[in-house]
Parts: sequence; C-alpha cells; structure tokens
Amino acid sequence: MERSLVLVKPDGVQRGLVGEVIARLERRGLLLAGAKFMQVSRALAEEHYGIHKGKPFYEGLIAYIISAPVMAMVWEGPNAVVAIRQTMGATRPLEAAPGTIRHDFALEVGRNLTHASDSPENGAKEVALWFKPEELVSWRRAVDPWIFEK
Ligand code: RTP
Ligand code: MG
Repeated sequence: MERSLVLVKPDGVQRGLVGEVIARLERRGLLLAGAKFMQVSRALAEEHYGIHKGKPFYEGLIAYIISAPVMAMVWEGPNAVVAIRQTMGATRPLEAAPGTIRHDFALEVGRNLTHASDSPENGAKEVALWFKPEELVSWRRAVDPWIFEK
C-alpha cells in the first residue's frame, strides 16, 4: 500500500491543530503506520528540503521547520499521496480549495501547516529518512474492507 510522510509543521503544533489534521486523515479512511512528536535537527531539515536548496525561500523554510516541534507521521492507503495532498490543499493557502486544511486554517505559504510527500517514490524515501523500520507498524483494521475495495 502506498505511503506518505505527513508533518504537522511547527505552526500547526503551536496552534493546536495536530488533532484536527489527524482527525481529517482518519475520517478520510487513511491508515496510520507511525507517529512521533519531535524537534527537527538542522541536518534532517536540510536533507528533507534538499531539493529547495538555493531557492529564495530556502533559509526561511529551514528556520521555520526547526523553530518548534513537529508531529511526524506515516499514513498509508490506496493512492495515499494524491489523497493526502488533496486533503491538505494547494501549497499556497489562498489557492487551496475550500474544505482543505490549508484553506480552512492558513493564509500564507510560509505558514502552511503541513507537509505531505509529492510522489509515491518520494513517500518511500521520506518515510525512510524520518522513521526507522521498527518505528513503523504494519496492521490492518477490521473496517478496512469497507474502505479499501481490494
Ligand atoms: P510540502 O513539501 O511542505 O508538503 O509542500 P508542497 O509540496 O506543497 O510545496 P513545496 O514546493 O515542496 O515547498 C515546500 C514548502 O516550502 C515553503 N514554500 N515557500 N515562499 C515561497 O514561495 C514558498 N514556496 C514554498 C512552503 O512551506 C512549502 O510547503
Ligand atoms: Mg513538497
């Protein structure tokens, strides 16, 4: 099953929105495979956001992600990457569709509350970067056949 890293970034933690993000992913039917509340090191932040190195917003992005604890999670499900990014909404909150997390709770791209992997390949890479294998739980819910067709 496809997996995505999900972060509730420091602004989401400070604003008490961890439960809101989890509730929306749970209600969607996605399956939680791992979670840890943590302070991100500069080294991890720089590796995670390596693709953005050199862009004008890079330094601010690193400062933002290490400014306070984050809630790091792994969620899985069929087409989990697309489903989760849809639930988060567009990167720029003013472009996010009504009903999405970024629309409903955010205004600025540099305070957009969450991170989610942008492809299944990056999902696998990011899960391996943020979580040790023993921190992930392989399990199924009794309700899964009512959510997952296969
Ligand atoms: P994320 O990686 O956090 O899930 O967000 P994303 O895929 O929707 O956006 P991405 O292009 O990967 O950018 C990563 C994060 O960098 C910040 N950003 N700031 N000031 C800017 O123009 C700008 N552009 C991006 C955002 O916090 C974005 O989530
Ligand atoms: Mg991204």
